[in-house]
Amino acid sequence: MSAVIIDGKAAAAALGAAVQAEAVRLAHSAGLTPGLAVVLVGDDPASAIYVRSKAQQTEQAGMHSVVHLLPADTGEETVLTLIRELNADTRIHGILVQLPLPPHIRADVVLQSVSPGKDVDGFHVVNAGRLAAGLAEAMVPCTPQGCLRLIRSVRPDLAGARALVLGRSNIVGKPMALLLLAENCTVTIAHSRTTDLAGECRRADILVAAVGRPRMVRGDWIKPGAIVIDVGINRIADAAQPTRTRLQGDVAFDEALAIASAITPVPGGVGPMTVACLLRNTLVAACRSQGIAPSEL
Ligand code: GUN
Repeated sequence: MSAVIIDGKAAAAALGAAVQAEAVRLAHSAGLTPGLAVVLVGDDPASAIYVRSKAQQTEQAGMHSVVHLLPADTGEETVLTLIRELNADTRIHGILVQLPLPPHIRADVVLQSVSPGKDVDGFHVVNAGRLAAGLAEAMVPCTPQGCLRLIRSVRPDLAGARALVLGRSNIVGKPMALLLLAENCTVTIAHSRTTDLAGECRRADILVAAVGRPRMVRGDWIKPGAIVIDVGINRIADAAQPTRTRLQGDVAFDEALAIASAITPVPGGVGPMTVACLLRNTLVAACRSQGIAPSEL
């Protein structure tokens, strides 16, 4: 058996097209153009690529895009002042502060300064609390939201499935577990202190790997027929071209392919969906700011 390779690029393109169509409709019906501001502090090259891509795709979706590039030695108070301005800016409906921030800036303070209604990352405690409480108004973090959409594309009804989330970050692991719980899965969160990681994985009908360790999940960790979602984007040296790097997931893809029923590739799986979900969250935030009910996207 060879697993279905879940096409994250195609799923992201479909969601992006739906968001674009909805943005056009909003412009005509309500004169509303959703706006996203992205803040990047420092010159991390990977972050710069992500930010550029987010801005391009925001514009392609017919939305207003603003990028604030701040030097690495920018003080925390300057960042907080910018966010206060963006919170008050009526053309901006979503604010994303690209992580990681330089070490002299307290990420938690900055993230909690974003107005919950504009928190398209879903990192504010108000949105995290809404998600934990199962409230529909929660702004759901983009990566786990994208993962759930990909899982549901191959298995629409997840009730009763045993799900294992490998990783417990606030960005992916914890919200992923809550989303799967809301889908009536039986959810386990595993992490670096879990005893018998392989055994835990082997029990899972749905396995989401978000640990940031290349090829940590081997083929024999996977239950036959499981759905495997690989969130890892590890940049490693390319053995064929030593001067170059390439992306490697948290799952040994070649091994998993023979065991799983469906699997996301790296690249081309979760990554594109994360950006599409960001556009979707921005559109929803814009609708809510005007008291317009967002359409199902
Ligand atoms: N850096 C890596 N992933 C993310 C994300 O989902 N949001 C933000 N703001 N920064 C990130």
